[in-house]
Amino acid sequence: MGKYKIGLGVTGGIAAYKAIEVMRLLQKAGCDVSVAMTRHATEFVRPLTFRALTDKHVIVDDYDPANPDPIAHINFSQEIDLLLIVPATANIIAKFANGIADDFLSSTYLASTAPVMIAPAMNVTMWEQAATQRNIERLKADGVRFVEPVAGELACKTVGTGKLEDVENIVRQALAVLSVPPAVAGGVLRPSEKAPPATAGGTDLAGEHILITVGGTREAIDPVRFISNHSSGKMGFAVAAAARDRGAKVTVVAGATLVEPPENVRVVRAISAEEMHAAVMKELPEATVFIGSAAVADYAPANASGAKIKKDGRDFMILELKKTRDILADVAKNRTANMIVVGFAAETNDVVGYARSKMEKKGLDIVVANDITAKGAGFNTDTNIATILTRAVGSANAGSSDIPVEIELPLMSKRELADKILDEIIKLRNAVPVNAAKSGNS
Ligand SMILES: Cc1cc2nc3c(=O)[nH]c(=O)nc-3n(C[C@H](O)[C@H](O)[C@H](O)COP(=O)(O)O)c2cc1C
Repeated sequence: MGKYKIGLGVTGGIAAYKAIEVMRLLQKAGCDVSVAMTRHATEFVRPLTFRALTDKHVIVDDYDPANPDPIAHINFSQEIDLLLIVPATANIIAKFANGIADDFLSSTYLASTAPVMIAPAMNVTMWEQAATQRNIERLKADGVRFVEPVAGELACKTVGTGKLEDVENIVRQALAVLSVPPAVAGGVLRPSEKAPPATAGGTDLAGEHILITVGGTREAIDPVRFISNHSSGKMGFAVAAAARDRGAKVTVVAGATLVEPPENVRVVRAISAEEMHAAVMKELPEATVFIGSAAVADYAPANASGAKIKKDGRDFMILELKKTRDILADVAKNRTANMIVVGFAAETNDVVGYARSKMEKKGLDIVVANDITAKGAGFNTDTNIATILTRAVGSANAGSSDIPVEIELPLMSKRELADKILDEIIKLRNAVPVNAAKSGNS
């Protein structure tokens, strides 16, 4: 491998010290790393640390007479194959998004034609702030790649999204942009349970074809209005990304969602419950695992109007609804031999009780139950609190395939929960045969 040149930009956040480990891993993968720091970053980590480890001048200020290169922002920016910002403050994201070039790093961003990857880290409120999210969307539209922060306990002692992604995952994703051969990346990075691209050695789901429904559905009332729900699709896409990273082939049937699908998964769009039912049944024969994470409408307008319905002075309007087809139950009925079927139960009360009865009634192997009213759980959050009910033998009630094991999980990121669900699928797969005990389902 020729030496890839990486410009590592470090900005002024608590996680600045983690940039040292990122630099070390990149060097181990054979990259030539040059470091640039904002002035605020130097309050957290001394430039000397990077200078000693890279044997290069660390640029903080273009105007510093001690700077060996008089037009460093131009030369630095032209030499690199990737500009990687770790950690990225809300401030640098805002500056990049708005073309502000008032220091070395922001000038470098504007002067560079290299791909840019940003790993943000900040307090959850700063992260969720409309301005920050707006800036991120703008940068994404400009082609900038993001390694999204994860949920967890933050330096400010709050819990939420804003924590820097694991440094190994950042390096893995940076190397993927440079197309560093997996063998090289795998040589310096331990196989990760979080984001080992299928090519980098995460293979415990190799050979599985996972079909996942994601998002909500929209049931047309007329060409303008529809009935829908609050499902964001974040949970389903997190499962899709995790399954892909563990070596599975993944097909997503996506309903209404604004979430960008992960790369390298096949996406079939199906907006209404009826379209989703048809798409799932079409894809089902190829699948070995079905995960129904979509919030599918139980009822849809019985007679959607072909033209916009007018008010016509009416104070009340009665909308007749008819039951939609039950995708999960039909999947369980039409499952191929050894297919594992997973459902979700988003409830507001007696969550586990409903999940247990859903599991029985529909003949499911795993049900992921969550109380959507709990703080940090439910729709449109990056975290979840769930109980997994599984027929897997081998833990609490080993040996019984009738009484589900209940695994109560604490608050965690949707990505972490995705991996827990996939762990249970693996356990079921290893308990032979998966659905032999259930008659009438094959
Ligand atoms: C102790 C401390 C910790 C901070 N941590 C963060 C952080 O994690 N993320 C962030 O966006 N800003 C953080 N800030 C605020 C930034 O340092 C501030 O916005 C600064 O202007 C960023 O400058 P820079 O982007 O040029 O490095 C922190 C400030 C202090 C004093």
